[in-house]
Amino acid sequence: MKILVTGGAGFIGSAFVRLLIGETDWRVINLDKLTYAGNLENLAEIESSDRYCFVHGDICDAPLVNSLLAGERPDAIVHFAAESHVDRSILSPEPVIQTNLRGTFTLLEAGRVHQTPRFVHVSTDEVYGSLNAPLEATEDFPLNPSSPYSASKAGSDLLARSYFVTFKMPVAITRASNNYGPYQFPEKLIPLMIANALEGRNLPVYGDGQQIRDWLYVDDHCRAIRAVLEKGGEGEIYNIGGNRSLPNLDVVRKLLALAGKSENLIEYVKDRPGHDRRYALSSEKLMRETGWKPAMDFETGLSRTIEWYRRHASWVERVRSGEYRAYYEKNYANRA
Ligand code: NAD
Ligand code: DAU
Repeated sequence: MKILVTGGAGFIGSAFVRLLIGETDWRVINLDKLTYAGNLENLAEIESSDRYCFVHGDICDAPLVNSLLAGERPDAIVHFAAESHVDRSILSPEPVIQTNLRGTFTLLEAGRVHQTPRFVHVSTDEVYGSLNAPLEATEDFPLNPSSPYSASKAGSDLLARSYFVTFKMPVAITRASNNYGPYQFPEKLIPLMIANALEGRNLPVYGDGQQIRDWLYVDDHCRAIRAVLEKGGEGEIYNIGGNRSLPNLDVVRKLLALAGKSENLIEYVKDRPGHDRRYALSSEKLMRETGWKPAMDFETGLSRTIEWYRRHASWVERVRSGEYRAYYEKNYANRA
């Protein structure tokens, strides 16, 4: 097998590349633009493998994507590359539209022309929007996105599905809940709170902190995507959840307790505009069809993640470059 992974230098994509190189004899080509979120350090442990190859480029670059598919003829494309952060999509929507919609279209079109045998489009539970308890989204739920990010992902899901319906392209779509684990860029809730807590800085909780998210350990997500790649049906959609729903405040309190830090660090700040109150999804279809289930229990995963950030303070320092400082200032300055 030869797999073209897009966005393989990001948080989840790099975990997927490490998993494929570590646990299979497949070849992996990683196409990544290396935006602020892409970091080749995440791949240091596998970069010398002769089954791994990195291509620096943009998924919106049609000539590049076409020549890659023509030259390499991969057996599958697993498409992670995206602008993935909701707050950034609110501050500046243009990049999410470009990469998540135009980029996905460019890959689908090239995959169609070059008849790539398999295309896994990695998406999110955010496309279902906020659901009142006790509802859990199944794959046929209506799409009801709230942010420019989730709207762009919903649009890219529909494009991917249209390529199956219209062109019979063998596309599968996955929709996962909130991931956490090592190498996550410290702009998302868990790594940001860990990094701030370890430095004794305030932890900015949006609104009342009662928004509910379902937490999925990144390696469980990657095993689910591999299961879909190998066993998923063509044109099918698969939800991937961690089966651990918690209000944000509970997550932050657990994290502070595990890190041995005081709850006095919690600072309630102005809410995110259009903030979805609750995400919830059923992974019953994926479990039934592939036998996958999440293996990591949340407390163990969170402890491991805290430990990883403790041991990788220099990684955190490096990724929090000047660009990160500018973003942090812009996002949090007027929230206090
Ligand atoms: P990330 O932001 O950590 O990484 C994104 C990667 O894509 C980076 O390496 C970046 O350089 C690359 N990239 C961005 N634009 C590109 C472009 N135009 N061309 C090529 N490469 C580009 O993201 P992540 O958290 O690892 O998420 C990966 C995928 O999983 C995304 O599609 C996201 O929507 C989806 N997802 C994420 C979560 C989550 O909790 N993080 C949950 C469900 C689904
Ligand atoms: O649900 C899957 C989605 O999860 C993915 O599609 C996205 O790529 C990923 O970024 C994530 O989106 P969220 O908006 O849920 O994640 P984030 O980590 O930004 O926020 C999680 C919750 O924590 C959310 O309710 C907002 C809140 N929050 C976040 C930050 C960064 C805070 O209270 N304070 C913060 O500083």
